[in-house]
Amino acid sequence: MKIIITGPKGVGKSTIGKRIAEILHIPFFETDEMIESLFEEKHGNKKSCRQIATDHGESFFRKLEKEAIKKAALYDWCIIATGGGAMIFPENRIQLRKESVMILLKATVDFLWQRMQVTGIPPFLQGDNAFDKYSQRVQKIYEATEHICDIIYTVTKENEDTAHEDLLQQIYFVLSQCMHGPNTFGQVLKVTTFGESHGKALGAVVDGLKPGIPLSVEDIQKQLDRRKPGQSSVSTQRKEADSVEIVSGLFEGKTTGTPLCMIVYNKDQDSRAYESIKDIFRPGHADFTFWQKYGIRDYRGGGRSSGRETVGRVAAGAIALKMLKEKGVRIVAYAEEIAGIKGEKVDIDFIEKNPVRSADPDKAHEMERAIKRAQAEHDSVGGIVACVVKGLPAGLGDPVFCKLDARLAMAVMSIGAVKGVEFGSGFAAAHMRGSENNDQMSDGKFLTNNAGGILGGISTGQDVVMRIAVKPTPSIAKLQKTMNIYGNTVDVSIKGRHDPCIVPRIIPVVEAMVALVVYDAWLLQERIGRYDGTV
Ligand SMILES: Cc1cc2nc3c(=O)[nH]c(=O)nc-3n(C[C@H](O)[C@H](O)[C@H](O)COP(=O)(O)O)c2cc1C
Repeated sequence: MKIIITGPKGVGKSTIGKRIAEILHIPFFETDEMIESLFEEKHGNKKSCRQIATDHGESFFRKLEKEAIKKAALYDWCIIATGGGAMIFPENRIQLRKESVMILLKATVDFLWQRMQVTGIPPFLQGDNAFDKYSQRVQKIYEATEHICDIIYTVTKENEDTAHEDLLQQIYFVLSQCMHGPNTFGQVLKVTTFGESHGKALGAVVDGLKPGIPLSVEDIQKQLDRRKPGQSSVSTQRKEADSVEIVSGLFEGKTTGTPLCMIVYNKDQDSRAYESIKDIFRPGHADFTFWQKYGIRDYRGGGRSSGRETVGRVAAGAIALKMLKEKGVRIVAYAEEIAGIKGEKVDIDFIEKNPVRSADPDKAHEMERAIKRAQAEHDSVGGIVACVVKGLPAGLGDPVFCKLDARLAMAVMSIGAVKGVEFGSGFAAAHMRGSENNDQMSDGKFLTNNAGGILGGISTGQDVVMRIAVKPTPSIAKLQKTMNIYGNTVDVSIKGRHDPCIVPRIIPVVEAMVALVVYDAWLLQERIGRYDGTV
């Protein structure tokens, strides 16, 4: 991903681009400078763009410009300011549009013309009717670029000194949007999951990992084993080893910096139970909405909407968890409540020692019994997962559209069966007074943590504390009313192998998603950096 700044000559592309690059701590390039270097490489002598155009004509200059732009299109995570007329040519637009946030800087012709008197009129505009020729060219640039730009900003006398600040906010917004594909997650570390419940395989492609990170199959498998089905009598009896294969991006035990692809082959898919309900919308499932959206659906085990899709998330999250552990960050999730039975004690070492992943040794059995009771009654139960991020430094996250809590909420809400999320005092804050809810500070630290470790979208350095509501498993054997694809009302009882409560199995998925957000925010912060008083 890169930021392209375009617009007519004299609009301020270089000044504004350099200011943004400084704040983001990323390199700044100008295609004009690249043209000059190319000329020197080819002809052995140095000439400015103006000289090249005067001595060799516009078509010679444009040829070099195309070459420079082709080169610039390969750059990543930088700002590139293009020459004024470059975007008039479709090939240049196509090259630069790929993997970029594109900004068009506009200004009135009078404003630009005034500036031009200082910097000089381009050679191919000189002569009679220079102003008219220039007006037409500016118009041409706007017409060619307006429709393909993400951000259009008009520079005026009043805003020319603060334009970079306005643009930064807009860039953050566009980045947060365009870096999310419907199956891709993350800003710097991009995770794409693929696969269906009863398809051939599932997995994830992780892009944006630094080269040289030591990684093994065991690092990933350890987390997948915590998620895999058939672990206990309170999870689905589908038997899957969920053995992961790393098929790319790893060489001699280290990441190569290229996309890391992890695959888990489905081995125990039994689609027979789904044959009889293939035309039926199961209550509580995505069947109806998938049908409405796509007009086609893989009815076997919910296809893409299945909890099995989370295999890819856990595999990717394992890498983030490993990286964060090295930075002293630990993420712990556990079943705080199941079927209304609330844990009180929090014994972190106990979580992986009981099938419901409760942190309270006094309540785990009770929770397990409640799940089995619901199952015996052909029903299911839900619960609340608590998740704590420990050791996070202050300063991670962004203030507006990419608030850390907003990104975490999005991440956990994207997991199937999650219906709510709160941070710190959460919904209880609505019933508190400011004096109760504010986290006062004294002796260099916070006295309470009602904020849940995040203020203004940025981590405070305290534990990030989240609570996540998980609905009862929708697939139940109890008879329920629903509709089929022909619009008829039918009775349905869902057979097959299901988790009678999703809470125990969702826990490693929550940890994985939280780790991916936190690690991504960490990587983003490394790129942006913190102002240290020097320029
Ligand atoms: C780890 C995990 C396991 C799940 N297991 C089941 C299951 O066995 N049976 C079922 O009906 N739903 C299960 N689900 C939930 C469904 O996938 C989910 O509720 C459904 O696709 C509808 O999506 P929504 O609840 O997000 O609206 C599971 C979800 C997760 C994350």
